[in-house]
Amino acid sequence: MRSFITRGIAAVGAVALLTLGTACGNDREGSTSGGDGAKGFAKNSLVGVALPAKTSENWVLAGDLFTNGLKKAGFKADVQYAGASTTVADQQAQISSMVTKGAKVIVIGATDASQLATQVAQAKDAGATVIAYDRLITNTPDVDYYIAFDNFKVGQLQGQALIDGMKAKKPKGPWNIELFSGSPDDNNSKVFFNGAMDVLKPLIDKGDIVIGSGQDSIKQTAVQGWKAENAQQRMDSLLTSTYHGGKKLDGVLSPNDTLARAIITAVKGAGKPIPVVTGQDSEVESVKSIMAGEQYSTINKDTRKLVAETIEMAKSLQKGDKPKINDTKSYNNGKKVVPSYLLPPVIVTKKNAAEAYANDPKLAPLTK
Ligand code: BGC
Repeated sequence: MRSFITRGIAAVGAVALLTLGTACGNDREGSTSGGDGAKGFAKNSLVGVALPAKTSENWVLAGDLFTNGLKKAGFKADVQYAGASTTVADQQAQISSMVTKGAKVIVIGATDASQLATQVAQAKDAGATVIAYDRLITNTPDVDYYIAFDNFKVGQLQGQALIDGMKAKKPKGPWNIELFSGSPDDNNSKVFFNGAMDVLKPLIDKGDIVIGSGQDSIKQTAVQGWKAENAQQRMDSLLTSTYHGGKKLDGVLSPNDTLARAIITAVKGAGKPIPVVTGQDSEVESVKSIMAGEQYSTINKDTRKLVAETIEMAKSLQKGDKPKINDTKSYNNGKKVVPSYLLPPVIVTKKNAAEAYANDPKLAPLTK
C-alpha cells in the first residue's frame, strides 16, 4: 500500500501493482469503487479544473489541453491556476467558485495536498465528482478518483538512471551523490523520493553510494515550492561545504527538470565537472541539455495523454458510467484508498530520446 504516511511498505505496493499488471494484462475496466456520477448529468455541464502554480512546463501544457479538450468533448470549461505567491488561498477560492457555478466534475492538481478538505467537502455536498489530477489530495474522504503517472515508478526510474549514468562514467563505486526532493506540500514529493530510495538504498547500505553531505532525509533534501532558486542555493552550499579538496561529486538525484537545470547551473558556476543529474517532465530546455550531454536523464509523462484520460473520466461520469481505473490499493490518502488510474512513465536519456519523443512534434526535432 503506497500510503502517504507509510513509506516503508511503498515497495510492496509497486510489486503488487506490477503483479496485477502482469496477471491481468491491460485490464483497465476492472473493479471500481467510490465516486458519484452514477446518474450522469447534462452533456454541456461545467467541468472545473483547478491547477497549481506553473512550477513546471507540464502544468502550462495541461491548462490549454484542458480548455480545448473539454470544449471539444461538449463541456463548458473553467480552468484556473493558483497564483504564484498565495497559491493555497487562491486555489481554495477557485474550487469554491467552481462549486458555486455548479460544476459537475472538479479536477484538481493540488497546490497543497493537505489544505483542500473543506473545498472538496463542499464539492461533494453539491453533488460534484472530485478527481485528483497528478497530485493526490490527502486527509479527506471526499476525493473520488486519482489520475496520474505512476509516481513511485517515476522515482524508481530516476534512482536507476542515476546508478546507470554513474556506472557508465566510472564502472565501480564508491560514488559520491547528493539527493534533492520536491516541495513538501506536494504529496508526489515523498512518493518520488521513496521510489528512488527503493533503488538507491541497497547500494548506500553496501557503501557503493555515499551521500557526501550526509543529508539523506526528505526534510533535509526538500525544495520548497519546487523553485529553481531554492535548489540552486542548496546546491551552492553543498558544493562549498562538501565538495572541496579534490572530493568529486558523481551524481545528483533531482526530482524534476526545473531543479536539474538549477543544480547544473550551480555546479557550472562553481567551475566543477557536471555530475550525472536526473530529472522529470521532458521540458524543452532539459531535452536540449540531455542532447548536449549535460543533464543525464528525464522522464516522459506525456501530458497530452494524462489530460485526454482525465477528459475520458469526465465523459464516463457524464454518461452515468463508472470511469476506468486500474489501481485500487496504492494511494491511501490517510482517510481512504482512492481508486486510481495510473499511466506508465518512461525514462529518457540521450540514447532513447529520438524513440521516446517520436510522436511529440515539439520534442522530436530536438533529438535529430
Ligand atoms: C509533478 C511533476 C512536476 C512537479 C513540479 C509534481 O507534482 O508530478 O511532474 O515536476 O510537480 O511542478
